[in-house]
Amino acid sequence: MIKFIALEDLLPIRNEVLRNGRLRPDECRFPSDAFDSIFHLGYYVGDELATVASFHQNSYGDFEGVGYQLRGMATIEKYRGQGYGNQLVNFAIVYLRGKKVNYLWCNARKVALQFYHNCGFEIISDEFDVPGIGPHHVMYVKIQ
Ligand SMILES: CC(C)(COP(=O)(O)OP(=O)(O)OC[C@H]1O[C@@H](n2cnc3c(N)ncnc32)[C@H](O)[C@@H]1OP(=O)(O)O)[C@@H](O)C(=O)NCCC(=O)NCCS
Repeated sequence: MIKFIALEDLLPIRNEVLRNGRLRPDECRFPSDAFDSIFHLGYYVGDELATVASFHQNSYGDFEGVGYQLRGMATIEKYRGQGYGNQLVNFAIVYLRGKKVNYLWCNARKVALQFYHNCGFEIISDEFDVPGIGPHHVMYVKIQ
């Protein structure tokens, strides 16, 4: 089941999945977590949080319309490959469409390009490196 969740609920998964457990959950906050437009989604399997992602208003380059950025996309290892990430992103897209948002974009790790492609995203940048994390592309999906 997909729910809107609090930042504090997802920080342990951000740390475990996206920072290899190297940090304290509190150190996994993004500056964008403080934005008014931020919302966080979680996919629960029973009582257990399996997948998380965060979304905030942010335009990309000179793209027209209202843009949102997806950050912190993560599924804990034992629940990967079961479609939870795909369902969570699709939930967000339907929700953002209702809020008249025009597009969603993200900095996608190269290893996750196929995942985002399956969610309807396309690559819109050259490859670039994020120090300590690896190669990325910007990906984008038009919502309306
Ligand atoms: C990328 C990540 C978030 C995907 O989460 P997930 O919950 O495993 O995603 P899904 O299960 O929807 O899709 C993953 C794969 O499962 C497969 N799959 C299995 N059953 C599926 C279903 N019912 N519906 C959709 N996909 C399904 C898909 O083909 C997909 O394969 P692909 O990505 O190789 O094409 C997860 O792998 C992860 O946390 N990785 C480490 C962190 C990371 O790289 N995050 C992205 C940062 S940009």
